[in-house]
Amino acid sequence: MKLIESIEEMQSTAINARQAGKTVALVPTMGYLHAGHASLMDEGRKRADILVASIFVNPTQFGAGEDFNTYPRDLEKDKLIAKAAGVDYIFAPKASDMYPTGYQTYVNVEELTLPLCGASRPGHFRGVTTVVAKLFNIVMPHLALFGKKDFQQLTVIRRMAADLNMTVQILGMPIVRESDGLAMSSRNAYLSQAERQSALCLSLALQSVRGAFRSGERSVEALRKLALDIINAEAFAVIDYVEFYHEATLTEVEQVDDRTLVALAVKIGKTRLIDNCVLGED
Ligand code: PAF
Repeated sequence: MKLIESIEEMQSTAINARQAGKTVALVPTMGYLHAGHASLMDEGRKRADILVASIFVNPTQFGAGEDFNTYPRDLEKDKLIAKAAGVDYIFAPKASDMYPTGYQTYVNVEELTLPLCGASRPGHFRGVTTVVAKLFNIVMPHLALFGKKDFQQLTVIRRMAADLNMTVQILGMPIVRESDGLAMSSRNAYLSQAERQSALCLSLALQSVRGAFRSGERSVEALRKLALDIINAEAFAVIDYVEFYHEATLTEVEQVDDRTLVALAVKIGKTRLIDNCVLGED
């Protein structure tokens, strides 16, 4: 496994791989890797000849007062995880190379970025789509893999790729959970022991909604109440949103069905966590 920091070197490596007839898969990450990232890498390893993982804490997707400076970073541990997952190249550019003085070009997906995390974190998805578009131009992957925990991010990136006629295939992979149900996230590292316990309310709320759906409940209000009751019972939890949206259009539904996305964002102490499920999926 090789660490590449230079944009030019990554581009020439990708061009050479393509000219040699090899397929390239990219797993874009902000580092502090966990089993969720490893599952994306495992899948990428199976599907392509060359596997690249990018590690870049992207400043443009963090708002003022968000956790850009404190976002957890551990490149040495990341290297071990990436190597074990069969990554060929880690691409870890410098922020000053990705956004040099004079930088002024951004990619913005419109409607899909307005609700949910887009409403709570204005400008966040503009930063995500910009950096992902840049990574696609640098790594030139045939395939890029993203986790479904960031469901809206995945939807927005698919839209960007389709709208801009990008040839990269976007693959969404299932959420990876701890044994007690907590969705894996680099931000879980912020949680104290008591907050970690409290954070289980997100997956418990989703389980409860899913259980009621399977028993025949179709009312958004009844299902929302189930989730709210579970989350509001937790001392550290402050709800940002509990929404029932159509999974493809990210618009509100009046009655739930198999294609309904249940999306949660909850602050546990100072840590904002997200989780979701699509009711018709396992
Ligand atoms: O999901 C993430 O870790 C980031 O948003 C991504 C896709 C790597 C872009 O910075």
